[in-house]
Amino acid sequence: MTTIRLRLTAAAITLLLAAGCGGSKEDKALKGPLEVNGLSTPAAFADIEDDRARAAALFEEMSKVMLHPRCANCHPKTGGPTQGDDMHPHNPPVIRADGMGAPGMTCNACHGTHNVAFASMEGSIPGASPWILAPALMGWAGATPAELCAQLKDPQRTGGRSLEDLVEHNGVDHLVGWAWEPGEGRTSAPGDQATLGALTEAWVAAGGHCPAG
Ligand code: HEC
Ligand code: HEC
Repeated sequence: MTTIRLRLTAAAITLLLAAGCGGSKEDKALKGPLEVNGLSTPAAFADIEDDRARAAALFEEMSKVMLHPRCANCHPKTGGPTQGDDMHPHNPPVIRADGMGAPGMTCNACHGTHNVAFASMEGSIPGASPWILAPALMGWAGATPAELCAQLKDPQRTGGRSLEDLVEHNGVDHLVGWAWEPGEGRTSAPGDQATLGALTEAWVAAGGHCPAG
């Protein structure tokens, strides 16, 4: 008796799920997991009807990645790069110069085209091609989500990039992607690059409104 009832319940659930997932094109874009590796996907925000509120919530979620140390260490507002989850000053000290470091102490003197594990101890030296500091104008370490949002919408500070360019950059840029393969001894940013790209796209589609604050 119990077994039959369980089977019926399972069948009913399958039917319900099938009915719920039929939906329009829009529904299909929002199918799939609500969360990936600690980062909510656009689907998790789909039931916020007000565009402003949905855009603000989507941006807050994007900020969890963009303000994460894996990104922010390369996006300081002043001074040189920082290191680690506590974002301490780069050791050895290096200066920005044109983003590549000082002559004789350029980033690529130490940072190669991929991460290299330390031979003698835990950890690694990060790498990507090219490994270079973000321009000071594009620095946002220590910013609030609202400040970061305003900055990304200010063409004076984005090098003329549009919001559509931002979708592309967050979704495919190789230095952005490094944050999920940061090498031994480093925690990766939450989510994955595809989810960051999807959140950025959904934020722009909702009008690109910023969170308050
Ligand atoms: C003398 C060698 C050397 C030079 C030059 C150098 N780095 Fe580094 N960098 C390192 C080492 C080693 C680490 C790893 C430290 C660790 O994890 O303990 C590191 C780590 C970093 C990190 C930390 C990543 C993270 O999220 O923890 C960033 C960002 C960084 N470097 C950027 C730069 C930039 C940008 C330049 C050029 C302006 C530069 N580095 C020049 C040796 C160097
Ligand atoms: C190794 C250093 C480095 C790391 C790590 C890094 N970036 Fe960047 N970022 C740069 C550089 C350099 C530029 C400027 C590139 C250009 O103008 O083409 C940049 C530019 C950007 C821009 C364009 C800014 C604007 O105002 O249009 C965005 C967005 C961005 N990065 C996002 C991220 C995110 C998100 C992460 C982490 C998931 C990240 N970056 C990690 C170096 C880095």
